[in-house]
Amino acid sequence: MQVLKWTPALWLGFEPMDEMNREFMELLGRAQAAPDDQVVPAWQELVQHAAAHFGTEDDWMRREAFATAGQHTMEHRVVLNLLREGLGQAQRGDLAPVRQMASELGAWFSRHTQTLDAALALHMRRVGTPEAAAA
Ligand SMILES: [Fe+2]
Ligand SMILES: [Fe+2]
Repeated sequence: MQVLKWTPALWLGFEPMDEMNREFMELLGRAQAAPDDQVVPAWQELVQHAAAHFGTEDDWMRREAFATAGQHTMEHRVVLNLLREGLGQAQRGDLAPVRQMASELGAWFSRHTQTLDAALALHMRRVGTPEAAAA
């Protein structure tokens, strides 16, 4: 299984996204390492985080009418659906799909972060978040 480790290549230089990405990696690591009786709660946390994380990025892209938003938002939606489906199967006692998914998600996440997230981070570094502007 590929265990995802933080590397400088995953650093985007936009703190709100770096923070969310670090949290995703931490929760994925916990879900990957979870013993059978802890898989469901670990996945629940990962799904909850992913919904908020992807939702925040989608909001920023909507607000900015961001060029690659369609593809980026679609990728979020597909992955979130898969995570939710896996959680449902795990809750019904079938852990095989989430075990399989856990080992594949690391590679997906690295790719996603270094392409779609990186492009968004570059833009957001320039314009800032509404939260930062209001502070
Ligand atoms: Fe992200
Ligand atoms: Fe993203």
